[in-house]
Amino acid sequence: INVVVVISGSGSNLQALIDQAAAININITGVISNIASAYGLTRAAQANIPTQVVDHTQFSDRTTFDTALMAAIDSYQPDLVVLAGFMRILTPTFTKHYTGRMLNIHPSLLPKYRGLHTHKRALEAGDKEHGATVHFVTEELDGGPNVIQAIVPVAGSDTEASLMEKVQQKEHKIYPQAVAWFAEGNLKMEHNKAFLLGEML
Ligand code: GRF
Repeated sequence: INVVVVISGSGSNLQALIDQAAAININITGVISNIASAYGLTRAAQANIPTQVVDHTQFSDRTTFDTALMAAIDSYQPDLVVLAGFMRILTPTFTKHYTGRMLNIHPSLLPKYRGLHTHKRALEAGDKEHGATVHFVTEELDGGPNVIQAIVPVAGSDTEASLMEKVQQKEHKIYPQAVAWFAEGNLKMEHNKAFLLGEML
């Protein structure tokens, strides 16, 4: 299947997908960033993947930005859109256009800690466990049905940085797994629920 990855930053999750692409039978046909300096664009270029920048600051509102982003994504004819550290809120028109074929990864055990600063919030709450979640994208921010989670135990000595590092190691395993399931045709979203091999997740 054709996959387009949308990023804003370092692109370590993109790298994990690039490294696994042959093994999980995906063709990353394009990488799009809203930030021109995102290191993920360099990773894509090194893997000979076409890239585009759609800079949100060049648009007067969310709707015109999302329209341009959709056009950029669709120019690569994706079967699946993978948001990997993409840091913009999406309009309902955008999320509807990709219903059932767009995934996101979020650094918390959703539904806990939607939004930003998840590691800090988990530490401040004294949580014993933290982690990451891959989910289908719906209109609700970080709210679509979960596909897979990875749990990280929180140590007393953990800092925001150490926790982020541990969570990211796990992200690099669960995101390629979720994408592999989708590529095999085994992962689907119907009526706002995720199914793996016909079983509701
Ligand atoms: C990840 O922690 C992801 O969960 C969050 O943003 C970060 C992206 O990291 N949404 P990278 O750009 O893939 O390295």
